Amino acid sequence: MTDQAERLRQIIENLKLKKEISQTEQFNSNPAHKARVIAVTSGKGGVGKSNVAVNLAIALSDLGQRVIILDADFGLSNVDILFGLTPENTLVDVMYKRKNILQVLSNGPKNTKFISGGSGARELVRLPKDKLISFIDHIKLLDRLADIIIIDTGAGLSDNVMGFLAASDEILLVATPEPTSITDAYAVIKILSHQSRLPVIKLIVNRAESQREAADILNKLSAVALKFLNVKLEPLGYILNDENVSKAVRIQQPFYMSFPKSQATRNIQEISKKLLNVGKNAQAGNYSGVKGFFSRLAGFVGN
Ligand SMILES: Nc1ncnc2c1ncn2[C@@H]1O[C@H](COP(=O)(O)OP(=O)(O)O)[C@@H](O)[C@H]1O
Ligand SMILES: [Mg+2]
Repeated sequence: MTDQAERLRQIIENLKLKKEISQTEQFNSNPAHKARVIAVTSGKGGVGKSNVAVNLAIALSDLGQRVIILDADFGLSNVDILFGLTPENTLVDVMYKRKNILQVLSNGPKNTKFISGGSGARELVRLPKDKLISFIDHIKLLDRLADIIIIDTGAGLSDNVMGFLAASDEILLVATPEPTSITDAYAVIKILSHQSRLPVIKLIVNRAESQREAADILNKLSAVALKFLNVKLEPLGYILNDENVSKAVRIQQPFYMSFPKSQATRNIQEISKKLLNVGKNAQAGNYSGVKGFFSRLAGFVGN
């Protein structure tokens, strides 16, 4: 009986929340609207994932997309640092403290929104079923609030991250020209190739010295992945090594904002355009959305 009362309370709260969300300007009136969920990852750390996630989100927002960034790099979460933001609540508060999804959304630059994952992924697999149902009820509302959700994950070879990658429809794999970064990126592709459900993997070379060096790495990594793992990678683009990136990091601003004419910003703009075109041609309408993502992440098959 108390379980039923609790479920009823949740349903009523959720109806209220839906009404509140439907009045926000970002709301999409189509109930079947699904966000495109993109996980940004790498083999090893420190290669530029968070910078790609944050600045790409802003570039996509500039192109008219409603973008939400989810910081899911639990060990070294730093989207908030790059934004110079300190969010009050995290996804864990949605799971345990009855916070709703609007209460965990912070405003980032240029209409982007930001959610801190807290230690969310680890909690998710431990959640009792009633809390999990309630959490997914909440989180799926993001499908109506965003066109694109960019997830900044940790390095793919570390704990907990593979689940995030395997649950995604689309992965942006970031590698630098350093040999260790390339071999670790290959290792991530190899692990993913053993999963029953293979996401689309798009490759970004960061910190290249020239376009030529970037193209060479994109081609070679794509060729070995196809030959030895039978995985078709999509070369998405590159970002040149640019001192404006570290300058911006030091002042806790996305380089896209502080250095809008820099090489790095132009490269990110190229990548954002390509990402939207590719989406239009190949994948439009096939996204499984936020609900699909979190349901898979929780290993949960429900409605
Ligand atoms: N294109 C670039 N040019 C120059 N420095 C870069 C570039 N991308 C990243 N960096 C440097 O690498 C550091 C780590 O980047 P970050 O995005 O935090 O990596 P990760 O999220 O993969 O750990 C940044 O603080 C910056 O100094
Ligand atoms: Mg990071």
